[in-house]
Amino acid sequence: MDLKHWKLETDGDNLAWLTFDRAGATTNTFSSEALRELSQVVDHLKQMPPRGLAILSAKDNGFAAGADIEEFTRLASAEEAMAFLVLGNEVFDKVEGLSFPTVAMVHGFCMGGGTELALACRYRVMDDGPKTRMGLPEVMLGIVPGWGGAKRMPKLIGPAAALDLMLTGRAVDARRAKKLGLVDAVTPRRHFPNAAKKLLLEPPARHAPSLMAAATDWPGVRNFVASQAAKQVAKRARRDHYPAPYAIIELWRDFGGDVRNVPREHPASMVSLYNHPTTRNLIRIFTLQDRLKALGKKPGSDPANQATATPGSDPHVDMQHVHVIGAGAMGGDIAAWCALRGITVTLQDLAPDRIAPAVKRGAELYKKRLKQKHLIQAAMDRLIPDVAGNGVARADLIIEAIVENAEVKRKVFAQVEPRMKDTAILASNTSSIPLQELAGVLKRPERLVGIHFFNPVAQMQLVEIVQGPQTSAEVMQAAQAFTRQIDKLPLPCKSAPGFLVNRVLSPYLNEAMLMLDEGLPPETIDAAAKDFGMPMGPIELADMVGLDICWAVGQELAKPGNPIPKQLQANVEAKNLGMKTGKGFYTWVKGKPQKTMAGTGTVDLKALADRLVAPALNESVACLRERIVADADLVDVGMIFGTGFAPHRGGPINTIRERGKQEWLKVLEELKGRHGLRFEPDSGWAAL
Ligand code: NAI
Repeated sequence: MDLKHWKLETDGDNLAWLTFDRAGATTNTFSSEALRELSQVVDHLKQMPPRGLAILSAKDNGFAAGADIEEFTRLASAEEAMAFLVLGNEVFDKVEGLSFPTVAMVHGFCMGGGTELALACRYRVMDDGPKTRMGLPEVMLGIVPGWGGAKRMPKLIGPAAALDLMLTGRAVDARRAKKLGLVDAVTPRRHFPNAAKKLLLEPPARHAPSLMAAATDWPGVRNFVASQAAKQVAKRARRDHYPAPYAIIELWRDFGGDVRNVPREHPASMVSLYNHPTTRNLIRIFTLQDRLKALGKKPGSDPANQATATPGSDPHVDMQHVHVIGAGAMGGDIAAWCALRGITVTLQDLAPDRIAPAVKRGAELYKKRLKQKHLIQAAMDRLIPDVAGNGVARADLIIEAIVENAEVKRKVFAQVEPRMKDTAILASNTSSIPLQELAGVLKRPERLVGIHFFNPVAQMQLVEIVQGPQTSAEVMQAAQAFTRQIDKLPLPCKSAPGFLVNRVLSPYLNEAMLMLDEGLPPETIDAAAKDFGMPMGPIELADMVGLDICWAVGQELAKPGNPIPKQLQANVEAKNLGMKTGKGFYTWVKGKPQKTMAGTGTVDLKALADRLVAPALNESVACLRERIVADADLVDVGMIFGTGFAPHRGGPINTIRERGKQEWLKVLEELKGRHGLRFEPDSGWAAL
């Protein structure tokens, strides 16, 4: 057999070892070629059956990431997509049909098609490392687990648990996978050969779901489970915005989880999903997310050099020690997050009692994320209070997150710079102060960069990496690589007020608050934004962010002549700052806004949404014209990961393209006629 992507060996016990090693790639994905080769291998094994078969991956990062998305996006029609689906089903069915025991040996990530191949095996063994995860994330791409996952997972672990994983796209670690019955054994990767041998030579009974779990698959109960799942989905996503979760439920309930059984014209069919704009947009966002990840890659990283190279100066090397100045809402959480990701962090503030709350929040974060006592303790040990600022001299990266005041920041910079290592980088988390206003006091302004996190730090994936006029390319690259080191997504931005995310968000929030001043209820405004597809309404968002912060950013970014939101001003003056004070535009109880109106009556939500969104689109166009980020794709992906901008619409610039530039210009002109010059279309529209 001539194989490009697989290696087949047989040992003295007549066990076959099949290793997936996708040619020319660092990650295993299933192209149609890789699937056809697997099919060939299975045919061969059927003719000369071994005692058992173990499937492994040769890649360090994981078992398999799923279908080759690049190939999927190149498919020219729904028919071709269906053919790709049928091929995967046929091959994995063949694997399932083998007469001898089979086991998938899973380390690192095992997603989508990787999980579906593992499910087609009789047994699964999972490595217990921190990076090992198994899941079916197809829903996030607007598609369904179509290579048998929706058929096999409910049978293996019971439909309720399987639907939960398929509908959220959540991946589970080895402990959870074992608990669910998704894997038969958990063992370190170095023990894989022995573990596989034992299973294949003395095959135990196959895992079956508990009676309780299995009962959810009985015909009467099945409808009930499906309707409960649909209710849960409806709370988070509307079918016209996100058809895939609904399709997954129907695929399981009505078609045995097999995409080949679904009639073409059915809304749950692959053809319907393929032709839905959401699917195209979600897949595009997924590939753009990879682009952001690549922006943080360590170019030509060579582990052999790492022992002698210095982190701050060399983007190839991880930061070992980060020093954070300012232990407030942001600095405290940035420090805690960096320590969670394995970095030694010293945290400085004016007095110990200002650092203590940050350490307490860190402990809560570690409890939630790390669960095991020794891991929690190790993370706590990495987060070191440092009122004296001794960490400055040892740190590879110093992040300043003190009050938003240029004078105070400059003072701190002037004190810190002489004590920094030559190779260290100085970063500011400022939301609005241009770096050039801070760099004047520095002897080496080329080492100053903006690393702008979003609130809440633990939840927001995006970090804007801000290049001042003097920031060196090498320092930019090191800051971008640092972002990846802590599992965030870097978005390189030019240093201009508000960078990208706050600049686009600000006119949208402002418009919402002007609507309030006109007497519209906050519930109605929020409903209009959610109807458009935003995860949260702008009034609720403003309350969450803090009205003092909204006010400060609004002032910083306001254009001359634009009206000032009066209720916002009144709330700030009365110290009703939103969630954190229990009262803002809403009253907040236990972290939830108390919304009083049941419905929105006869209000035209679509027209309201246009009025909210149009200023954000206009500002996006201005950012693109000013090249705040490099191109339109980065505007879109930045707004989605920075604010949750309606993902199914594919970001602001894509929203313009889908409805049409002329249509949106008409909306802006009409709004300008009614509400004034703040709706004046930016000159950048001409170049779109
Ligand atoms: P905060 O007021 O919660 O915390 C600031 C901390 O800095 C306080 O604990 C204060 O004691 C400390 N501090 C002040 N002067 C100091 C000095 N000379 N040395 C050491 N510590 C000092 O402020 P927050 O919200 O954390 O903001 C910090 C920075 O992060 C600002 O530049 C802000 O623009 C930026 N930012 C804020 C976001 C937010 O949502 N709050 C989001 C993104 C960035």
